[in-house]
Amino acid sequence: MTSKFTAAMAILFALLLALPQTSEAATGGALAVYWGQNLDEGSLTDTCASGIYDIVNIAFLYKFGGGQTPEINLAGHCGSWTSGGCTGVGQEISYCQQLGIKVLISIGGGTDTYTLTSVEDAQDVADYLWTNFLDGNTSAGPLGAAILDGVDFDIEFGDGQYYDNLTYFLKAYDQNVYLTAAPQCPYPDAHLNIAISTGLFDTVWVQFYNNPQCQYSSGNIDNIINSWNTWVSSTTAGNISLGLPASSDAAPSGGFIPADVLINQILPVVKQSDKYGGVMLWSS
Ligand SMILES: *[C@@H]1O[C@H](CO)[C@@H](O)[C@H](O)[C@H]1NC(C)=O
Ligand SMILES: *[C@@H]1O[C@H](CO)[C@@H](O)[C@H](O)[C@H]1NC(C)=O
Ligand SMILES: *[C@@H]1O[C@H](CO)[C@@H](O)[C@H](O)[C@H]1NC(C)=O
Repeated sequence: MTSKFTAAMAILFALLLALPQTSEAATGGALAVYWGQNLDEGSLTDTCASGIYDIVNIAFLYKFGGGQTPEINLAGHCGSWTSGGCTGVGQEISYCQQLGIKVLISIGGGTDTYTLTSVEDAQDVADYLWTNFLDGNTSAGPLGAAILDGVDFDIEFGDGQYYDNLTYFLKAYDQNVYLTAAPQCPYPDAHLNIAISTGLFDTVWVQFYNNPQCQYSSGNIDNIINSWNTWVSSTTAGNISLGLPASSDAAPSGGFIPADVLINQILPVVKQSDKYGGVMLWSS
């Protein structure tokens, strides 16, 4: 599923998106990408130095809540972070930020190893995130002294309770903590609707893939456009972005959009929304 070919394809696809096709950049918004789930994607420094991306989500803090000691897993990019093995990634994060790129820690992901069990549990997780990744006392945290720009919620399990509390607690530390959420496209999202309903997210990037009822498929743009319209009209957030697979390998259940269809048929429609924030790419 993951190969050097896929990583190269993803970069090519992203480049196509970022290059000016007409008088303005094709995406007309921020281009975001996930990093950390595929060793073949290259280093974080390479990702940032490519000059393509405005936001990078470090994925994932895959274990948290329910009294567990939180853990990150960056798929072999760094070894034992508990013994300081990932502080080099922290230095790369600082490099990215010097280039003007926002770097977020993405919590959750595709394994069922996280939960929030109570308001107190949400407060504990907020405290952990603040102390280790945001402005608390990061030097002792898994990524060393880097101070990240915010938190991305990629919650794919559970009923979503207490994630609204987590959202409030993070913004209570500092209004400038940038918060994003990555719901799947069927509306409302089963796991993130409670959190998104707070209206506190700066950007919601909707995953328009792996869900045939609301993704692009073989020439048909109706499902994705209808779903986009539902999200834009129903969601209180700073921005809504188009979450897409960077290659067909990245979404086993479909949703990959050829660059020409995206640029000529889909972006011109979604960009008409005041809420349009840009494009998010998933590449693992
Ligand atoms: C929303 O997206 C626009 C276009 O990318 C950007 O200028 C603006 O800063 C974004 N707002 C937030 C809250 O991220
Ligand atoms: C920061 O973390 C270090 C290492 O765990 C600890 O010794 C220090 O007391 C902490 N500082 C604050 C202000 O919490
Ligand atoms: C937690 O969320 C619930 C449901 O939205 C809300 O009623 C409660 O006030 C929140 N608790 C705190 C401490 O923010």
